[in-house]
Amino acid sequence: MIGKIHKQMSHDSWLFSKMATPEYTPFVFLLLLFQSSVWGVPVCQTPQESPTCGYKSCHATKPGMLNVHLVPHTHDDVGWLKTVDQYFYGDRNDIQHAGVQYILDSVVDQLLKNPDRRFIYVETAFFYRWWKQQTDDMQNTVKQLVNEGRLEFVNGGWCMSDEATTHYSAVIDQMTMGLRFLNDTFGHCGRPRVAWHIDPFGHAREHASMFAQMGYDGFFFGRLDYQDRNRRMVAREQEMLWRASESLTPPMADLFTGILPNGYNPPEGFCWDQSCDDPPIRDDPDLEDYNVDDVVTRFLHIAHGQALVYKTNHIIMTMGSDFQYENANLWYKNLDKLIRYVNQMQSNGSEVNVLYSTPSCYLQELHRANLTWPLKGDDFFPYADSAHDFWTGYFTSRPALKRYERISNSYLQTCKQLEVLGGPISRKGPFGAGDSETLKKAMAVAQHHDAVSGTEKQHVANDYARKLANGWAHCQVLVSNTLSSLSGSSAPRVYCEHLNISVCPLTETSKKRLVSSAASVTWRHNRLSNCHRTSTGLYYLLSLYPSLSPPLHFSLPFPLSLSISLYPSLSLSISLYLSISLYHSFLFSLPFHNYFSLSFSLHPSSLLSLCASIVTLRDFLSYLFCVCLSRYNASDGNNSESIQMSGAYIFRPNTSTPFIISKTAKIETLQEVRQWFSPWVSQVVRLYTDSRALELEWTVGPVPIGDDLGKEVISRLDSSINSSGVFYTDSNGREVLQRRKDYRPTWNLRQSEPIAGNYYPINSRAYIKDDKDQLTVVTDRSQGGGSIQDGSLEIMLHRRLLYDDVRGVGEPLNETSDIYPEGLVVRGRHLLSLSPPATAADTHRPLAQEKVQGPAPQFSGLQAVLPPAVHLLTVSQWDQDTVLLRLEHQYQASESKEHSQPVTVNLQRLGGDPSVWEVNLKPMEIRTFLLRVRQR
Ligand SMILES: *[C@@H]1O[C@H](CO)[C@@H](O)[C@H](O)[C@H]1NC(C)=O
Ligand SMILES: *[C@@H]1O[C@H](CO)[C@@H](O)[C@H](O)[C@H]1NC(C)=O
Ligand SMILES: *[C@@H]1O[C@H](CO)[C@@H](O)[C@H](O)[C@H]1NC(C)=O
Ligand SMILES: *[C@@H]1O[C@H](CO)[C@@H](O)[C@H](O)[C@H]1NC(C)=O
Ligand SMILES: *[C@@H]1O[C@H](CO)[C@@H](O)[C@H](O)[C@H]1NC(C)=O
Ligand SMILES: *[C@@H]1O[C@H](CO)[C@@H](O)[C@H](O)[C@H]1NC(C)=O
Ligand SMILES: [Zn+2]
Repeated sequence: MIGKIHKQMSHDSWLFSKMATPEYTPFVFLLLLFQSSVWGVPVCQTPQESPTCGYKSCHATKPGMLNVHLVPHTHDDVGWLKTVDQYFYGDRNDIQHAGVQYILDSVVDQLLKNPDRRFIYVETAFFYRWWKQQTDDMQNTVKQLVNEGRLEFVNGGWCMSDEATTHYSAVIDQMTMGLRFLNDTFGHCGRPRVAWHIDPFGHAREHASMFAQMGYDGFFFGRLDYQDRNRRMVAREQEMLWRASESLTPPMADLFTGILPNGYNPPEGFCWDQSCDDPPIRDDPDLEDYNVDDVVTRFLHIAHGQALVYKTNHIIMTMGSDFQYENANLWYKNLDKLIRYVNQMQSNGSEVNVLYSTPSCYLQELHRANLTWPLKGDDFFPYADSAHDFWTGYFTSRPALKRYERISNSYLQTCKQLEVLGGPISRKGPFGAGDSETLKKAMAVAQHHDAVSGTEKQHVANDYARKLANGWAHCQVLVSNTLSSLSGSSAPRVYCEHLNISVCPLTETSKKRLVSSAASVTWRHNRLSNCHRTSTGLYYLLSLYPSLSPPLHFSLPFPLSLSISLYPSLSLSISLYLSISLYHSFLFSLPFHNYFSLSFSLHPSSLLSLCASIVTLRDFLSYLFCVCLSRYNASDGNNSESIQMSGAYIFRPNTSTPFIISKTAKIETLQEVRQWFSPWVSQVVRLYTDSRALELEWTVGPVPIGDDLGKEVISRLDSSINSSGVFYTDSNGREVLQRRKDYRPTWNLRQSEPIAGNYYPINSRAYIKDDKDQLTVVTDRSQGGGSIQDGSLEIMLHRRLLYDDVRGVGEPLNETSDIYPEGLVVRGRHLLSLSPPATAADTHRPLAQEKVQGPAPQFSGLQAVLPPAVHLLTVSQWDQDTVLLRLEHQYQASESKEHSQPVTVNLQRLGGDPSVWEVNLKPMEIRTFLLRVRQR
């Protein structure tokens, strides 16, 4: 398959290239009389292109030669071994020598010394911190550098987000924050033209789709599976066109994508940072060790070698790495010389031309080459850097932080909506001064590829959680102000603290208050029940539920016989009977449900698998599946095939068979089925009368380590679905990709890790299906999982490991906390739905959205008029009189008969104004608007 770069790369067209998609594309300004009427005419802004920045500021290249684009850059993690602020200041250099403030000081100084020099900067979270501290003079100097294209922003989000464990709504928010700062500060010349994800450990298709829709011209990254890279090098397919959506009409989600030659490091022997040991260029023949000829020869050799694995006569070299350029003089002095001496050889017939460049200048040359690129349709997961080294552990690492990040996103959405609803009083009201800014920033850094990914040091993970908790506190004031202003009451609100470490003391002492205050504002507050305590304290949750979503009322004792009186059809009751008789240790059944009837039994062979027989009451379909919690023993590196151990990044079980946690499991049936596999692993199966899904609540921890073995606990669902090795996982919570066991769509896989090599990120859902049935699991956080056997889905819940996996973090993933000194306890939920494939999406899309949106109040008047296919993604105060509104079509093309159609939202119905404003949304489309708001 082949494709062309479709992106418009002209200087003027970017503003209009993507009408009303996420940030940096034109905003449609409307006048909105608050909650009353909408009118207005879309007005597009006129672009004001500075004469020198952007593609125009690129150095000239030489058409007949091999042009080598040197890209000076630094990779600054927004937290990893040190916290984001420690990195900024250069604090704790005993952990890692790194100080971003000095990098920016030094680079600016060096750029001023030679107008040919170029630098790209990526992480706006750091740049923002630095900018605030600069004098007006310095700010003007930097603006000048940006206007001349000498300092160029690439990517430009608040951070370089993780791609496996992030949710699209949080990614869009953090990108918005970074890009907005750049636009507000530098205007047009601050606009990044390429996305730059040089370090994330695998790449999600949804990220590429978002970048394309945000108007980026291209995307570069460094990490992909070693087998994939080898094949692409031979085939010269390291540059491609990524068609990142099966739903959006090309070229809406098409993005030129390039794989960098050396990760993001300089070629070997050419690292001139203070942190490197490569020899400088010694060019005075009168001094010892003159090495210009040697340097030039080695460089030409590398350049020619690299040109063999790329298609054009342009190649790119990343001259920099982690936290480099703190003393930028070292790099630039040697790069100046390298360029001079290599280019001097041209007079002697050399056909290599070296230049200072940026990724966008390199991209411009590829565009000019007018080639046809291979087309990529799937994604870049999982990532392996060697045969036994699959980076699939971090899909699950730090499950409590992953959950806390997810509910913080939901709380932030609520907070932003209430800020809009409440107006100025929300930020300064009876409860004091509140804001959404603090939580926005905390969420933005939490998207970093060493944050929600779980690959940071423990003290850094604590810092992300602390930042989020602080953000919650600021939002809580705002929310209280708004609610009291809307309701006219100033009753205190109760919040569930300590969600960051999975503890909720409040629910024990103040259940009633919690529930009633939640009810009084009509929040769908069942989310609060995610607060947990210890692995044995399962009970308090129950008292929360009755007031929220009435559970079933059981009159049937255990053991019981089947009541068939509910079922009008005799054949139905027979099939139910048959399926149960298969499983002799029949437990009990829950027949009084609006949508289905459920019977439980134990799997005859193990008595550990809890089996459920479900009969739907609408169409009388019957399903049977079993669920069991088990674990892998983690590899400790003591292995004949490879010494790789399981760690924060890498998943490597020491055998391919999950280990049964105990020989028996204790079962208790009350209003739900509870199953204890051991004191540290248990699950509860629940049904709510009005829900179409069954809830499996798992509790795992403290994972015992007394036997000196790391453990990775999974939940496995087995069903009779004939899935033929195929399963499905979502990408960043949005579009779903098909996965196939031991298979990759773009190369012939040599599978070397039968479990870890079949794991994929699950952000919100995974499913298996056959012609008749689909079993979908909706998750409450990002987790890793796969389908190792037909009919089966396994999801990793928690991991505790005793070795570092040698990818830099330097700590075993061995989580404890003050409250859990014995090891972290984590609880979470899976929602299971069973339905015919044709209607499955109608259930799991809203379920997953609800899981993310959580207790968001229904934005009065607006959500109510939206068709079911349309989701209100963001409502947020933009500036004093402007509100940002993002609407999305939440269905994929052809996944739902009913909903996978283009829809029109008629926003006139928002209020009484007669003028009409129609928004059209096609499946999977996101559209962003800025509305001018006038408070009446
Ligand atoms: C970008 O910044 C300019 C001012 O430099 C402003 O007029 C414009 O509205 C901003 N665009 C967005 C999308 O914020
Ligand atoms: C070019 O070749 C000539 C003759 O071999 C040599 O004297 C000169 O130093 C070379 N120039 C460079 C830049 O190497
Ligand atoms: C690009 O290549 C196509 C053929 O693939 C050709 O028709 C077209 O004229 C070329 N455009 C430019 C600007 O060279
Ligand atoms: C969790 O949040 C609470 C406040 O809600 C805060 O005091 C505490 O420090 C946080 N814990 C961690 C580990 O960040
Ligand atoms: C896992 O470790 C336990 C010790 O905790 C051991 O008894 C068991 O045999 C191991 N199982 C596998 C499959 O390695
Ligand atoms: C893991 O944590 C426990 C509890 O803090 C501690 O006793 C143990 O030494 C740790 N093990 C490793 C390998 O870090
Ligand atoms: Zn990084």
